[in-house]
Amino acid sequence: MKRSIVIAGNWKMHKTNSEAQQLANQIRMKTIDITKTRMIICPPFTALAPVYDIIKDSAIHLGAQNMFWEKEGAFTGEISAGMLKSTGADYVIIGHSERRQYFGETEETVNKKIKTALENGLKPIVCVGETLEQREENITLKVIGKQIRGAFDGLTPEDLQNVIVAYEPVWAIGTGKTATPEQAQEVHFEIRKLIAELLGRETAEATVIQYGGSVKPGNAESLLSQADIDGALVGGACLKADSFAEIIHIAEKLKK
Ligand code: PGA
Repeated sequence: MKRSIVIAGNWKMHKTNSEAQQLANQIRMKTIDITKTRMIICPPFTALAPVYDIIKDSAIHLGAQNMFWEKEGAFTGEISAGMLKSTGADYVIIGHSERRQYFGETEETVNKKIKTALENGLKPIVCVGETLEQREENITLKVIGKQIRGAFDGLTPEDLQNVIVAYEPVWAIGTGKTATPEQAQEVHFEIRKLIAELLGRETAEATVIQYGGSVKPGNAESLLSQADIDGALVGGACLKADSFAEIIHIAEKLKK
């Protein structure tokens, strides 16, 4: 089964609108030759529409970093799926570990958000990952299993065609520590196996599973060469056009 490689940049809480447009433009210029790799950039809410203006005629897709599941109403400070769609976004990161850690997101809220995103034509990038304590306690696979089951509760194989999974070990995010390619592959393999149990082999084989956590040009090739690693969700290294474009070029050259 051939899955396309998907490289996404999570800008987190970085970039004013003018800085965001500048970065988006640099990324656009440096990836003009890319034809196979799917590219997604996820600026903060405020920069979505301005960034879309820059990339709309390019192969780069726009994604948001979060959303709320209600359609509209008295939910001060929240953003709906429809609002995201109206900016030009077609992806949305759901359940990033920083959201789970600092903003109280649970498997239940993650599940609601995924369903709402899909109903509104947004493709969720669903993040899962274990903490350092959980890895040391040897419960990584149990934790990931619970997160995946919770996230995918009530989803159909058709839904999964529009879902990307990102495995991001919490201890590797922003720390400079990367999971070894073997450590990552082991978890990716198990995630695919679980998706097969829940939604069938064919669905599992077609699902893109990205790795995230200190991905940079220096480690991208060894990670992306693993059989079950289909892309990367990049944080720190996506804030510089040079390093983000380099990761994309590494992906483009890999024959999977
Ligand atoms: P990092 O972030 O690449 O800076 O570790 C990845 C992420 O949080 O998505």
